[in-house]
Amino acid sequence: MKKCILGAFALLILALALPALAAQPDVPADGLKLNKTKQPVTFNHSTHKTDMKCGDCHHVVDGKENFGKCGDAGCHDSLDRKDTSVKGYYRAMHAKSGTKFVTCASCHGQVAEKSPDKKKELTACKQSKCHP
Ligand code: HEC
Ligand code: HEC
Repeated sequence: MKKCILGAFALLILALALPALAAQPDVPADGLKLNKTKQPVTFNHSTHKTDMKCGDCHHVVDGKENFGKCGDAGCHDSLDRKDTSVKGYYRAMHAKSGTKFVTCASCHGQVAEKSPDKKKELTACKQSKCHP
């Protein structure tokens, strides 16, 4: 009887855990285009594997895992470069501080501090790997 209860319990846990596991999608192929703006940026997951977690970029929204696009409606959907609210698309990519999650440019800035030879390619607005 005891075994039976334990077994049922294990099944229940499995049933609860499976949807959570299934919720993480496959990493898309390289060459994604962040093309909401005039200066599209090509994003490659392969160069961002390191020790980053998916959730560092694809952060939870309202307590739920979220793999939508950064500029989806209701998210960072304001294309006004001067919009410094959480809606600002430019800010979500570039802010150096004051954001809840790490931005592209803040991390690239840190990388460039450690490896000054990468400064131009990772932090410049023009002729960089972000904005060729
Ligand atoms: C350094 C930041 C970063 C990390 C880490 C990261 N991603 Fe992404 N991911 C992005 C960006 C940026 C996009 C493009 C979003 C857009 O188009 O607005 C994207 C797009 C995606 C998409 C496609 C979304 C769509 O609708 O086209 C999926 C799926 C995805 N990532 C899964 C993952 C998974 C799984 C992991 C962890 C193994 C991961 N990502 C780690 C930044 C990241
Ligand atoms: C937590 C740190 C971190 C974050 C956040 C991050 N990056 Fe990077 N990025 C890196 C590192 C590290 C490299 C590789 C540097 C090297 O080894 O040359 C890199 C390289 C790149 C490159 C050049 C290599 C390539 O794949 O073409 C592009 C473009 C790039 N990142 C775009 C982005 C964008 C867009 C975002 C935000 C959506 C972002 N990164 C967020 C750390 C980060």
